[in-house]
Amino acid sequence: MFNPLEHKGLALDRQLRNWREMDVKPIDPDLADPYTRCRIITMNGIEVEAVLFDHHFARVCPDPEIRRQLAFLRYVESQQQRVVNWLLPGVPSALETTIAYEQVAVDLTAWVARMEPNPYLRQAYEFGVLEDFDHLYRYANLFEIVERRKAEKVVDQLTEVMPGRPTTLHHRHPYDNVRDPYDRDTTAPLSKLHALTVMAAEQQTMNYYMNVGPQYMEPIARQLYQEIGLIEQEHVTHYESLVDPGETWWERLVTHEYNECYLYYSFLQQESDPTVKAVWELHLEMELAHLQAACDLMRHHDDREPEEILAPALPEPVRFEPNKELIRHLLATQMDLTTLGAGYVRDQHERFEKMQERIHGGDEPPSERVIELHRDIFGQEYRVESDGPHPVAGLREAAARG
Ligand SMILES: [Fe+2]
Ligand SMILES: [Fe+2]
Ligand SMILES: [Fe+2]
Ligand SMILES: [Fe+2]
Repeated sequence: MFNPLEHKGLALDRQLRNWREMDVKPIDPDLADPYTRCRIITMNGIEVEAVLFDHHFARVCPDPEIRRQLAFLRYVESQQQRVVNWLLPGVPSALETTIAYEQVAVDLTAWVARMEPNPYLRQAYEFGVLEDFDHLYRYANLFEIVERRKAEKVVDQLTEVMPGRPTTLHHRHPYDNVRDPYDRDTTAPLSKLHALTVMAAEQQTMNYYMNVGPQYMEPIARQLYQEIGLIEQEHVTHYESLVDPGETWWERLVTHEYNECYLYYSFLQQESDPTVKAVWELHLEMELAHLQAACDLMRHHDDREPEEILAPALPEPVRFEPNKELIRHLLATQMDLTTLGAGYVRDQHERFEKMQERIHGGDEPPSERVIELHRDIFGQEYRVESDGPHPVAGLREAAARG
C-alpha cells in the first residue's frame, strides 16, 4: 500500500519550471480517450482549488515567514494548473468542453457516491449526480442545435445522455442548499477527500460557465449557460457545506495536499496517454513534497501529528469508468427528491414553490426551451440511451412528446 507520508518527493527548490518545461503537448481531440480528458479536467479543478485555498489562507495569516512559504507553494500550484489545463486541445467551441465538464461531474460524483462510507454524505452525492446528469442532456441538445454535432463524439458510449432530475427543479431556495457538515474528529479520512474533490470540480464548472456563457451569439445558448451556471453555484454550496468548518487552516492545508497526492497517484494508475501520464508522475512527486511541508507546518503550529487526521495509506485509487447502472438505479428511485433544510424530501414544499415562482416568473426556463427547439429542428430530442429505454416510463421520448 502506498503511504504518501513515507515519501519525500521532489525537493521544493527544484519545482520551479521554465517555459520549455511548461510547454506541454495537448491531447489529440479525435484520438484521446474521453476519460483522459476527464482526468485533465478533474486535476485542473483540483489545482485551481489549491491556488485559491492558498490565497485565502494567506489573507488570514499574520506571520510573514509563513506568508512567504505559502506564496512559494501557491506559485508552484499555479504552474501545475497551467500545465494541466494546457493539456486540453484547442476546440471549436466552449460547448464541447462544457459537455466534457458535465461528463466529469457525472462519472466522478458517481464513483464518489459508490465509495463513500457515510450514508448522509453518500446521499449528497447521489442527489447531486442526477442534476449534472440532466445538464449533460440539455447541453448535448444545445450542441447539436448550435454546431450540428453530436455529444457522443465527446462522451463516446461511456456516459449515457438522457433526462435526469429536470434542470427546472434545481432552482431551490438558497437556505435549502446548505447541508450538515461531517465531524472532523469522527469521520473517515476518505470522506474528507471526497468532499474536497467534488467541491473543487463543481467550483471550476461554476467558474467556467459564468465566464464562457456570454461569449455565445445564440440567445438560447446564452440563456442556458446563465441558468445552469446558477445551479453550479448551488452545487458548490451543497458540497462545501459538507466540510466541517471547525477544521484548522493547517489541517485543511494538509488535507488539500494529501488529496492532490491521492488523485495524481490514482490517475497515474489508469492513464493510457504517455504524455499525460508523465505529467501525473511529475506532479505526484511535487505533491509529496508539498504534503511534507504542510505536515511540518501542522506539527509546528497546530501542535498535532498529521497522522491523527490522515489514513494510514491511500484509499482505493479513483477511477473514471462507466456508472450507467448506478445512474439508472438513481433515476428509478431518487428522481423526485428535493431538499428541505439540511435534509431531503419528496414533496415540493412551500419555500421551494415560492422560489420556483420567483425565478421562472411564469415562463418556460431555457433548459426546457432548448429541448423544444431541438424537437422543432430535428423532429426528436438528442439522447444516447445505450443500455435501453429510460428507466422512468414517463421520461421515455415517445411518452414525453405525447
Ligand atoms: Fe498541486
Ligand atoms: Fe452541471
Ligand atoms: Fe454541478
Ligand atoms: Fe500541492
